[in-house]
Amino acid sequence: MIATEDRLAGLKQRIASREARIGIVGMGYVGLPLALLFSGERFKVTGFDIDPGKVETLNAGGSYIVRILPSEIQAAQRAGFRATAEYSEIAQMDAVIVCVPTPLNEHHEPALSYVTGTVESIAPWLHEGHLIVLESTTYPGTTDEVVVPLLEAGNPSGLKASRSLDEPGFHVAFSPEREDPGNETVARHDIPKVVGGCGPAATALASVMYGSIFGRVVPVSSPAVAEMTKLLENIYRCVNIALVNELKQLAMRMGIDINEVIDAAKTKPFGFQAFYPGPGLGGHCIPIDPFYLSWKAKQFDFRTRFIELAGAVNTDMPYFVIEQIANGLNEHRKSIKGSKILVLGVAYKRDIDDLRESPSLTIIELLRDKGAEVAYNDPYFAHVGRGRHYDLNMSNTPLDNLGQYDAVVIVTDHSAYDYKAIVDESQLVVDTRNATKGIDSAKIVRC
Ligand SMILES: NC(=O)c1ccc[n+]([C@@H]2O[C@H](COP(=O)([O-])OP(=O)(O)OC[C@H]3O[C@@H](n4cnc5c(N)ncnc54)[C@H](O)[C@@H]3O)[C@@H](O)[C@H]2O)c1
Repeated sequence: MIATEDRLAGLKQRIASREARIGIVGMGYVGLPLALLFSGERFKVTGFDIDPGKVETLNAGGSYIVRILPSEIQAAQRAGFRATAEYSEIAQMDAVIVCVPTPLNEHHEPALSYVTGTVESIAPWLHEGHLIVLESTTYPGTTDEVVVPLLEAGNPSGLKASRSLDEPGFHVAFSPEREDPGNETVARHDIPKVVGGCGPAATALASVMYGSIFGRVVPVSSPAVAEMTKLLENIYRCVNIALVNELKQLAMRMGIDINEVIDAAKTKPFGFQAFYPGPGLGGHCIPIDPFYLSWKAKQFDFRTRFIELAGAVNTDMPYFVIEQIANGLNEHRKSIKGSKILVLGVAYKRDIDDLRESPSLTIIELLRDKGAEVAYNDPYFAHVGRGRHYDLNMSNTPLDNLGQYDAVVIVTDHSAYDYKAIVDESQLVVDTRNATKGIDSAKIVRC
């Protein structure tokens, strides 16, 4: 048997010399930027995806994510990057990082099928010393209770996950992704990377691998700690956003501007972090991840009341926006039924091309249900077709002749919009994002 240190030293050396082959499964918003980070550090990266369109685009040197330029894909290609749908190539990888979706099903429960499908496809190609890291956000216990058993059951050579330093086998770890699309304040490299392995060898190897692309690695004692770290971060945001969303509604009744309150409160140099109200939660993370923990908590006969309450407040926000639109129209002696309404922004947040779970979609559907004639404008989406929870089939409307609309509703505050011009040209503006801050006009309903 090879001594442990020698076994680990082999992969560590291959990482240090950039000979290690890195496979990344899931070429989406998380996996593709990660692939580019490794390529930027001269690793030869293979991107795996079941979507043939993505594989083809990447191999042609193109990009399907607005903030990633084709020139970045082409630079990665020069460092050896290529994409494939062929899982047998997993065998040639030294390390495989899994970045596939973790949505909720129709009962609001974790839908782990993307993770389990991926792991089952990887298992037949495992070899001694392989490092497999899950990055998809999930409940504590997934790596140990779901991923490892599937990898062990599905690999024909009977390889087991190494749990201690002197045990041979493959290595498994969890490392949460902390991507914040559109946030340019911190370079990706400067975001510390939390890593929890199923054994000390897995933690050590994953730490060395991530240490080659991140400035700081934070090793923790188990995958479950790393899994729960990610959920704590997202639940913290979800609960705090719900808090300001609720306080905003109170402040409005009291005639106080909540945004002015937040701006004042955030001058406190300690003990306060600003969160901002909005039309409801969006994106793949904050509306979904907390419920991964609520679901798991039930197995321990525990109710996560903060998560449930925050979920209820945030889910109600699009309905609150509808009420405010109705109030605004009412002042003009109009009803939602029969009104022409333009929704500005369908992306779930500013300056990104992602509309997953976007509150705009709910707001558009609610307005349509109430009989409004709805159009949308979003520089990032020429068309909005069918998603997991909606089927809108709408095309982008040019941002002109705004006077024709009974109301213009700012749901996403893209920085490309000229808000002063929008207010000037519109009859009524409902602003859910404080995008019209500093513009003084009786036409604006701020909510
Ligand atoms: N988007 C974010 O900002 C963000 C931030 C932090 C964490 N996360 C987490 O990262 C994970 C991935 O999210 P994302 O936003 O990148 O998702 P995404 O939908 O953008 O990308 C996932 C990719 O995986 C591919 N895929 C699905 N099943 C596959 C399979 N069996 N084999 C190969 N490829 C497969 C899909 O085709 C898709 O390209 C999720 O768990 C999410 O919660 C996302």
